[in-house]
Order: sequence, then structure tokens, then C-alpha cells
Amino acid sequence: MRSAACFALLALLASQAAFAASPRTNYLLHCSGCHLPSGVGNPPNVPTLHDELGRMMAVEAMRAYLVQVPGSSQTALSDQDLADVVNWVLTEFNAGTLPGGFRPLTAGEVARARQTILADPLKYRIKHWKDYGD
Ligand code: HEC
Repeated sequence: MRSAACFALLALLASQAAFAASPRTNYLLHCSGCHLPSGVGNPPNVPTLHDELGRMMAVEAMRAYLVQVPGSSQTALSDQDLADVVNWVLTEFNAGTLPGGFRPLTAGEVARARQTILADPLKYRIKHWKDYGD
């Protein structure tokens, strides 16, 4: 009886250790509440995550921006999981606009970027890229 309980516990622990949410699942859990499962958001209040992010990746300063907006930087996701989610958003919703030779974000890059809180994301966006709709 006791060993059966132990076995059940071990099996449970093993299954949890093996469970790592996919980037898609993490997107659905942590981002889709605002940006919607399809990523189209609800402009102008919540921006779309389609197409323009890919174009932004031609500008080095905008790589950090993707993880410095509050919805990204303050998520409960780890640096690696956030990197994976943002890379998933880029390849899933922005495949047609990513620059050639695009390098996926790394966990280290995300960790560094997240240390800087953007007091005004829109100001940063306009300075390094452009206003919404421009
Ligand atoms: C509570 C709602 C909310 C959640 C949750 C959220 N976001 Fe956002 N997101 C916004 C809003 C609002 C903006 C517009 C900028 C701002 O005011 O923060 C935005 C902006 C962005 C932008 C910049 C888009 C642009 O065109 O400039 C990216 C990239 C982004 N979010 C990614 C994410 C990711 C990835 C997640 C999940 C880890 C996430 N967001 C979770 C509301 C949210």
C-alpha cells in the first residue's frame, strides 16, 4: 500500500517535471487575454501582433522593445519562456515581414532587456520606430 502511494507520487512528480508548456500554450495563457488567441488584438487599445513586429526587427533597438512593453516584461514567464513566446509570435504572426537573417531572441538578451522598464512604451516606439498607424 505504502509503496503504491510512493509510486503514484513519483509518477506525478515525473509527469510534472516532463511538462513544459509550449510557446503557443504560454502565448494563450499569458498574452491572448489582451492580444486575443489570433494575435489581432483590439486596436487602438491593444495593438495587433501581426506583420509590423516583423518589420520592426530590422531595427536593433526594437528587439528589446518587444520584451520591454509591460505585458511582456511583467509576465510571470521565465526569460527563456518569454524569449520562446516572442520568437513564436514573430515566426507565427510575422513570417512574411521578418528581415532576412533574423536572429531569434535569446534568454540572455531578454533578461537584460527586462531590467529596463519603459516608462513610456509609445515614446520609445516613436523614437526608434514609428507611431501606430504610420
Ligand atoms: C493586460 C493586457 C496585455 C497582456 C496580458 C499582454 N499585452 Fe502586450 N500589449 C498590451 C498593450 C495595451 C500594448 C500597447 C503598449 C502599452 O501601452 O503597453 C501592448 C503592446 C505589446 C507589444 C508591442 C506592439 C507594438 O506594435 O508596438 C508587444 C510585442 C506585446 N505587447 C507582446 C506581448 C506578449 C508577448 C505578451 C505575453 C507575454 C503580452 N504582450 C501580454 C496589452 C497586453
